[in-house]
Amino acid sequence: MEIINGDATKELLEAQAHVWNYTFNYITSMSLKCAVQLGIPDIIYNHVKPITLPELVKALSIPQTRSPYVYRLMRVLVHSGFFAIKKIHEHLEEEEEEGYMLTPSSRLLLKNNETNLSPFLLMITDPVVVTPFHFMSTLFQESETIPIEAAHGMSLWNYCAHHPEFNKIFNDAMACDSKFVMSHVVKDCKSIFEGCQSLLDVGGGTGTVARAISEAFPSMRCTVFDLPHVVSNLKGSCENIEFVAGDMFESIPSADIILLKWILHDWSDEECVKILKKCSEAIPSKDKGGKVIIIDIVIQEDNGKYESTESQLCFDILMMVFLTGKERTETEWKKLILEAGFTNYKITHALGLRSIIEVFP
Ligand SMILES: C[S@@+](CC[C@H](N)C(=O)[O-])C[C@H]1O[C@@H](n2cnc3c(N)ncnc32)[C@H](O)[C@@H]1O
Repeated sequence: MEIINGDATKELLEAQAHVWNYTFNYITSMSLKCAVQLGIPDIIYNHVKPITLPELVKALSIPQTRSPYVYRLMRVLVHSGFFAIKKIHEHLEEEEEEGYMLTPSSRLLLKNNETNLSPFLLMITDPVVVTPFHFMSTLFQESETIPIEAAHGMSLWNYCAHHPEFNKIFNDAMACDSKFVMSHVVKDCKSIFEGCQSLLDVGGGTGTVARAISEAFPSMRCTVFDLPHVVSNLKGSCENIEFVAGDMFESIPSADIILLKWILHDWSDEECVKILKKCSEAIPSKDKGGKVIIIDIVIQEDNGKYESTESQLCFDILMMVFLTGKERTETEWKKLILEAGFTNYKITHALGLRSIIEVFP
């Protein structure tokens, strides 16, 4: 009996820890944001060797009296795997010291790194993005209002169009993700673009994806198509890339390949079918090289990769709070693709959290 009680108590305490871990999750996010805003990853990187607490405080140009706060901030971020601690053996006669080091995760937050993901962290933790989560309950009421509209009185794209500061935060976040993803796509999946003369990046933001493709395939004509507030002042900014303003629900300019990166997950099934039909009107037949390339999440159920599945499911909630879209399983993607009149598709799970779906007319 005692053993059963012991097990029951253990289970209860573990359950409480689980509840608390998730209750506090956002505090880790905010601590990471604070570290990035203070420039801690870059300070550690520039220090070259492990940095002690007093050295870190000095480099932060803050009074040494703030040292306990820095220690506590670093402690939670060491615990969550963003920094590591290493013993320093330089002065054997002196007391052994410890220094902070970067981990593979914090290396992805370095400002001058080709794959700097901090703009995405700063966007997701921005009050403009956090506030609509306080309005999630509107999704379960009768009104058609989605949480972002309840919080900010307008859709995400209208909010971006009317708030240049947030528009920049949003576009920078998209651009940093595009740099990250495209560094893998052009290295490991080059063959999907081979033999094609022209590419149109629909909803291509400020052109980061198009730039990466144009560098890898200099003879390809690349066009970025997006809403006027995103591309209007980019026209003529890049020699090899044309920027065209428009609405993908109205019409889409022609190209051999149409790229949809992080577009369809923003929209409902009905809206996606409309977009895909517009794409199909804009590309040549399959034997002439026509295809649509989708870069988006394909939820891989039961694949055991807990970390990426959790992020995929959180992304799905993000879509629910901000847009009419959702993250989809392969079965859901297949349904959309066939409904839009395409005949075939091929999925490559090559990008970690995201996949490449080639869709053929
Ligand atoms: C989630 S972002 C993805 C940006 C970019 N493809 C990337 O992955 O970095 C979605 C993009 O779709 C654009 N967009 C939204 N509605 C659109 C429309 N009706 N026509 C064209 N672009 C649109 C937005 O302005 C935004 O740049």
